[in-house]
Formats: sequence, structure tokens, C-alpha cells
Amino acid sequence: MPAVDGRHSALVPVAEARPALDAPPPRVQTAGLAPRPHDTAGRRPAGEMTNPQDFEIFLAAAPGLEALLAEEVRGKGFRQPKAVPGGVVLKGGWPEVWRANLWLRGAGRVLARLDAFHVTHLAQLDGRARRVPWASVLRPDVPFRVEVACHKSRIYHSDAAAQRIETAIRETLHAPQSETADVLVRARIDHDLCTISIDTSGEALHKRGYKQAVNAAPLRETMASLFLQACGYTGQETLLDPMCGSGTFVIEAAEIAARLNPGRNRPFAFEQLASFDAEAWQRMRQVQSSRPPAARCHGYDRDAGAVEMSRANAARAGVSDSTEFHQAPISALAPPAGPPGLVMVNPPYGTRLGERDKLVPLYQALGQVLASRFAGWRVGLVAAEPALARATRLPFLPPGAPVPHGGLRVTLYRTGVLA
Ligand SMILES: C[S@@+](CC[C@H](N)C(=O)[O-])C[C@H]1O[C@@H](n2cnc3c(N)ncnc32)[C@H](O)[C@@H]1O
Repeated sequence: MPAVDGRHSALVPVAEARPALDAPPPRVQTAGLAPRPHDTAGRRPAGEMTNPQDFEIFLAAAPGLEALLAEEVRGKGFRQPKAVPGGVVLKGGWPEVWRANLWLRGAGRVLARLDAFHVTHLAQLDGRARRVPWASVLRPDVPFRVEVACHKSRIYHSDAAAQRIETAIRETLHAPQSETADVLVRARIDHDLCTISIDTSGEALHKRGYKQAVNAAPLRETMASLFLQACGYTGQETLLDPMCGSGTFVIEAAEIAARLNPGRNRPFAFEQLASFDAEAWQRMRQVQSSRPPAARCHGYDRDAGAVEMSRANAARAGVSDSTEFHQAPISALAPPAGPPGLVMVNPPYGTRLGERDKLVPLYQALGQVLASRFAGWRVGLVAAEPALARATRLPFLPPGAPVPHGGLRVTLYRTGVLA
């Protein structure tokens, strides 16, 4: 089970985190409830602040990105998101779950809390799992699979726990189990508290559906968009990536500028749940607030293949008109005509032994070009090696926390407006 998805125990209110052994099962609002009326776009009726049927929704984020995701979630009108280790928690109903999947650029996946109970041994789990309201969320005709993570609990054998939950679902709901099922039940047993969630996203949300062509080290779209947000990018200014690889920054920025929903082109696991309302979802998807982009987004790379790949990805994303990609080395880089904007760049990482020293001249050249030709612009640089970021000699603000990314820890370095 990926680490980011195993951290949703933080959803459990403090008083419930370590219940006394004889305590009754904790009362948490769960997703085993019918959808309630919303308007055609899935928004709450005006004036409705809370609903007794709201349940906990967990949005996974890479560690270090939780606060940025909470900011995005708040900015998009979700109520009272709270950053917790590994993600953001909020309350809502199924329309909020669908909207989170459709709208949020920074969330890695969206989990709906189904149940939570105290459990200390497998026989108890076996019995309690049969009382989970599976039928309210899972469908008897749709295959499911179960993943369990155990942490500091008397039940420590995750496979055995998964097998108990699988059996409970099979025998109470008669749903087929399959290792390749899109519908995934995630359980976490933490300090003897078992929380059961449904992964409503399916494939991780950084897979927007446009990036079929990738280079060796593509950024995740979710991380790229949160880094754009951290650099203050709102879609109103020119964006330029001088080492664009597969085009992630450029395409994310162009989508932000056009106000396109990141999830517009992909399916989600929630479409296969019993709680799904196809008509309401269709209406929600159709509401488009797209706008003609206020700014253009430019990508350059010295590698012709990267440029071709970026163009193809941008075409699939439907942002060809507001993006352009050119083959050019950093030494030939010049700012496009018009007002200054934001440079976002993710140069080669250089983490292998000996590689770092070889990359120093590249980072130096990048720094020189930006400092001498890009007055008035801001820079966001993603690097895995602080020494390489320093080699640019750009006036970086104090950096944020390193973020795990494909076996590396990358950091976003930001400048203010270059003099
Ligand atoms: C880590 S990759 C960028 C990945 C990109 N952010 C993505 O999401 O796909 C670094 C890119 O820098 C490019 N590059 C390396 N040296 C360059 C140079 N001197 N001028 C321009 N591009 C360069 C490489 O071709 C590669 O595509």
C-alpha cells in the first residue's frame, strides 16, 4: 500500500484515536449513506453549511505538500479542509467526492470514509467487518479488492486482516473479488482502530489522461500544479519552462489559465460504486467554467524528442492553441515578447555518484541566463540537490520542505521578482 494512502488515520477525531478496550465503536460519520439533494452542478443548496449525512473525505498528498493542497481545496470552495500528515481531510457528501476528483489539481487520490471501529484480534475483525454497510457503497456485480496497512496494533498481519475483510464482503454482499478490480477498499488498523475507506479515484489523480508520452523523469502533474500554485501562478501571466521534458509544467499552467478541470478526460472508481448517480455526475461534468487563456505557456528543451512529446501531450490535453514548444538549449533562451511572468524549471537531477559535479556547469549556465536576460520574471526551480540549486546563484527565498518523488526528495526553490 503506498505510504500516502496509509495515513488517513489522522481523520479520526482525537477522542477516538485510542479508545478504551471496552469502549463502544467510535461514532464517525461514514460514507454508507444515500446521496442527498444538490443542485445540478452538485453544489450544496444556498445556506446549507453542514449536513448530518456528511462523512469524512481524505485527499492524499505527498508529505510536504499537505498545506499547499489545503490551500487549493479552500480556494475551490470546499468547506473547512484541514491539512493532516499525508493529506487533507474535509467533510462532505458524494457530490463533494466527485467534485474533488474532478476539480482538484493537487490531490493524489480521494478516499471516502466508510466505517471505523475498534478491533484487537482477527475473529473480532471478521465479525465487525460483516456489519460494515458495504451494500450502501459497493455493488454486488462489481469486482472489488482490499488493501490493509497495520500500524502499532495488536492485529499486525495485514494480509490476514485483508482476507477477513474480503471474506466479509464476499459473504455479505456476494460481490466478486479480483486482484485487478478498479474498486479498492482500503483499511488501516492504527493503534487498534480500524478505519475503512473506499478509494473513489481509481487510477492515481496525477494521471490526467493526456500524458501518454513521457521522458525519463517526468514530474507528477499533481506536484507540478502545487508548485505552480506555491509560486503564485494563477493563469494570468506568461509561463516558461526552459527544460520542459514531457511538458508537465507548461500543460498544467495552460490548463489553469483556461480553467479546465483536471479530471475532465478520465474515468473514476466512484463511477462503479452503488452511491453513484450517473445523471448528477453528467450534469456536474458538463458545468464548464473554461475561459480563453489570458497568457501563453512556453516550453523549450534541447532534446527534439522531448519537444515532440510535449506537443503531442498538449494536443491530447486540448491546450495546443495556448502553448508552444521549441527545441533550444538553455544558452539560446530569450524571454518571449510581452510582460514578464514565471519561469518554472526542473533541470536534470544529478543524484547519482559523480553526476552532480558534471551538472554544476548546466545549473550555473541556467542561473546566468535567467539572471541576465529575465529581469522582472520570477523563478521556481525544482531540484534534488541543494548544492546544484545554489550553483545557479539565483536569489532564492528560504525553501520549503523536500518532497518525496520517485525515490528522490525534491525541493522547490523560488525567487522573488528578478532585478
Ligand atoms: C528532469 S527533465 C524535466 C522533466 C519535466 N519537468 C517533465 O515533467 O517531463 C530535464 C530536462 O532538461 C533537458 N535539458 C538538459 N540540458 C538542457 C539544456 N542545456 N538546455 C535545454 N534543455 C536541457 C533534458 O532534455 C530533459 O528533458
